[in-house]
Formats: sequence, C-alpha cells, structure tokens
Amino acid sequence: DGYVWFEGIPFPVVDFTPEHMREVQENFVFKDEDVLILSFPKSGTNWLIEILSLIYSKGDPKWIQSVPIWERSPWLETMYGYKTLKDKEGPRFMTSHVPIHLFPKSLFKSKAKVIYIIRNPRDILVSGYFFWITSNFVKKPESLEQYFEWFIQGKVVFGSWFDHVRGWISMQGKENFLILSYEELKRDTRSAVQKLCQFLGKKLEPEELNSVLQNSSFQAMKENKMSNYSMLRGWLLDQKNGSFMRKGISGDWKNYFTVAQAEVFDKIFQEKTADLPRELFPWEEWSNT
Ligand code: A3P
Repeated sequence: DGYVWFEGIPFPVVDFTPEHMREVQENFVFKDEDVLILSFPKSGTNWLIEILSLIYSKGDPKWIQSVPIWERSPWLETMYGYKTLKDKEGPRFMTSHVPIHLFPKSLFKSKAKVIYIIRNPRDILVSGYFFWITSNFVKKPESLEQYFEWFIQGKVVFGSWFDHVRGWISMQGKENFLILSYEELKRDTRSAVQKLCQFLGKKLEPEELNSVLQNSSFQAMKENKMSNYSMLRGWLLDQKNGSFMRKGISGDWKNYFTVAQAEVFDKIFQEKTADLPRELFPWEEWSNT
C-alpha cells in the first residue's frame, strides 16, 4: 500500500525490509565518537548534515562538493546506510528518522552525540506534501487535503509527528543530546551554528565560521549538486515536479492551510502537546511562523 510496515509504523519502500530493520535494531553498535542526526522527515535534516559536514571540515567546501550528502551522513535504517556504517572505522556521521522505540538499543548505552532537529509540524506537512509527490519511495498523496488527513492521523512515513517528538525528547537533559529547531536555525543561523560547535566540542576561527554559513545557505545548497539531490537516480526522485530545495522558509503553511485546517491543526497540536515544555516549540511563540 505504498509503505513497508515495521511494528505498525510505515517505512519507505526502497532500501528497507522489516527483516533488515530488525537486524539494525538488534545488532547495530554505537560508538562514543559517533554523531547522530535525528529528525522527523522534512524538518531540515539535510541542512543540518550540510552544516555538520562543514563544521568538521572547518568551513572548507571540498567535502560537500565532492561527496553526496547521503554518503556523508548515511541513513542508518536503509540497507545502504547500515552496510556502509556497520564496519566503518573512526568517528561516524549518521542520520535517522526512526522513532525512539524502534531504535537500536546500543545508542542508550553510548556517549554518541545526538542532535534532534525539530520543526513546526505545519511546515513539515506542507514540505512533505510537495516532496512526496516528486518521490517514488513512499505513497503519493493526491491532494494536500488528503495528505493533511494522513499527517494528523500519523499515517505517513515514520508515523505520527507527535509520537516521534514525544519519544525522542525523553532524552532531553542528557549531556550528549541536543535539540535544535529549524526556526532558530533559520532566524539566527550564526548563533545556532555556534551552539552546535560548542555541543560538538569544535572550535572555529571567525573566517571558518563565515565559510560554514556561506556554504550551507539555502542558495548554496540549491546550487550544489552533491546536496540538492539531483545526483539521485531519477526514478527515486522526479524533480521535474518540484524541488528538494523547495523554499527553505518558516511559516509557508500559511500559504496553503485553509482557515478550517489551521483551526483543526491548532486544536490537535494543543491537545497532543499540552504536557510538554513550551520551549520545545519556539515557533508557537513567534506569532505562529
Ligand atoms: P521546504 O520544503 O519547506 O522548503 P529534510 O532535509 O528534513 O528533508 O527537510 C527539507 C526542508 O529543509 C525543505 O523545506 C528544504 O527546502 C529545507 N532546507 C534544506 N536546506 C536548507 C537551507 N540551507 N536553509 C533553509 N532550509 C533548507
């Protein structure tokens, strides 16, 4: 039906099987020097990968211009990612969208650095709609109205956004865990990158920091063929119908939600997050951008 199912959660149909996911869950071993990027899809995952790649290369764009983004920080849950990461020596970067309850248990015994990127789910919904209609690895929605329903019911890839967030933020307070919002990254990229450097124990010279900012900008990523997914096999992603680097702004949902949809979403958001700390959702304060 357009997904591979694992423990009741929809996964993409390409490069996954339930048996493979079981293998990853049971056998993947984290090392203390690993860096893990976690997100619900469309939260700014690839932007964060680009920034981390540049922080580790001290602003030198050589790495981001010669290696595709998915090889720099492979997705652990894909067969490709698992195979590449499993026996890799030295520090590893990796990415994942898997909810906490299905994640390899070895993470919780390691000191691997974990960054969870969070974004206004309304913008995730809109971004997801325009992305999935270009892709051939998850079920394609027929309209935004339809995708809105799927999203609020959690019948989208990697399940419910609300469950995903609630699960992962249970790690909050751990020394090796950082939550960063797309909105704060967008609003003050320099400060957010400095916060990342501090968390990762990396020190950059002012000109190195400037280069990180320049080379990870929306425009730079849109033009970098190693980051804009134009290198991905055409049958996986058909960017004739839309672009992976779509708009890169906060609050675009306002251009797509009807008044009724905005109300429905607000109500569900309030209900499902009522007991969670408000500072997790900075965009709610910033006049709903
Ligand atoms: P939009 O569709 O709203 O434009 P992910 O990497 O998790 O799939 O998220 C993709 C979203 O991040 C897209 O959002 C994309 O445009 C945005 N994005 C990617 N790189 C960005 C950048 N450098 N600056 C701002 N937004 C960026």
